[in-house]
Amino acid sequence: MSAGPRPTPTRRQGSPARPGWRPTTATVDLDAVRHNVRTLAQPGAAVMAVVKADGYGHGDVQVARAALEAGATWLGVALVEEGVRLRDAGIGAPILVLSEFPPGAEREALAAGLTPSLYTDAALARLVAAAGDLRVRPGVHVKVDTGMHRVGLAPERAAAFVAAVVAAGLGVEALWTHFAKSDELDDPFTDVQLERFRGAVADVARAGVRPRLLHAANTAAAMARPAAHLDLVRLGIGIYGIAPTPALRGRFDLRPAMTWTSQVAMVKRVAAGEGISYGLRYRLERESTVATVPAGYADGYARVLSNRSQVLIRGRRHPVAGTVSMDQLMVDCGDDPVEPGDEVALLGSQGDERIEAAELAALAGTIPYEVVCGVSKRVPRVYVGE
Ligand SMILES: Cc1ncc(COP(=O)(O)O)c(C=O)c1O
Repeated sequence: MSAGPRPTPTRRQGSPARPGWRPTTATVDLDAVRHNVRTLAQPGAAVMAVVKADGYGHGDVQVARAALEAGATWLGVALVEEGVRLRDAGIGAPILVLSEFPPGAEREALAAGLTPSLYTDAALARLVAAAGDLRVRPGVHVKVDTGMHRVGLAPERAAAFVAAVVAAGLGVEALWTHFAKSDELDDPFTDVQLERFRGAVADVARAGVRPRLLHAANTAAAMARPAAHLDLVRLGIGIYGIAPTPALRGRFDLRPAMTWTSQVAMVKRVAAGEGISYGLRYRLERESTVATVPAGYADGYARVLSNRSQVLIRGRRHPVAGTVSMDQLMVDCGDDPVEPGDEVALLGSQGDERIEAAELAALAGTIPYEVVCGVSKRVPRVYVGE
């Protein structure tokens, strides 16, 4: 091969800032986020917008700004890195990191003004050391494990732990917990967790500490359990316009914030009896128009949807034909007219038809959270309502 000069790229690959040549994009409607925040806000309770995992795939900074504009006063993230990203973008609102700061992250997290969750003696010791070095006095959110057994401290340890936090010179801004089954609306376990939480709060009060905030509710509890609203609700999936469980669909007027579209790249007539895609697992019963769409499992369109899901083209549903490949999938359009350049809705609506994350989730054996979080970084996000 000759080592001649490489052509200079004149256009960038797709990126969140600028879509590339490939017409596969996720459009995020920030007005929908604002609407959902206002719709889900509960009387007497502040709103924490949970924007971890890049805003459930929607874009953390953009969603955080929209949620704050709509009245949220707190942000919630899973990682210190996620909180620092929000700060780097100029966001000054309080940010709770929903698990303890990992060892070594304390100084940077405190310097960024992130609010710590706390539930172990080891993390308390590290936090006290970092706070001393930086001469700051963070107000911590002590997490009580009332039954999910993910992170948190046992309710019966809450009073002693809070006393230790105070004795170490830190403030206790909040006590909080997280529900394991709030999406199962009639399940009494949420009441059990709330009871255990109230017991821990009472113990802490008897020890002389009354934190400013108590919080427990995620979206499902915000929608269905008024007793769990307390001082603040932590809203994740709902602000993206998705009901946490099918039973809560329609209970609030939520607007899906993400639509995921592509365009038909190629169209061909294929004879009856031919198979489509890897493994030839879709057989045409009759001659059909098969459209190729440049979106695949590397974009987050799960391979398990092969031969199961549908997409929208020209306002009509058509089945995904055969195996979803890494970058492309095929659609059986029968005898319907379809041309290269036609819009394909993977998630979203055309005319009267709509494909929601819940539909893909049910077909894939998962929850809608995973569908939107799974739309990969390769898919440029385009924002409306910014
Ligand atoms: C601790 C915590 N609080 C709140 C939420 C928000 O939950 P949802 O998205 O169901 O509203 C999450 C998300 O998983 C979480 O982990």
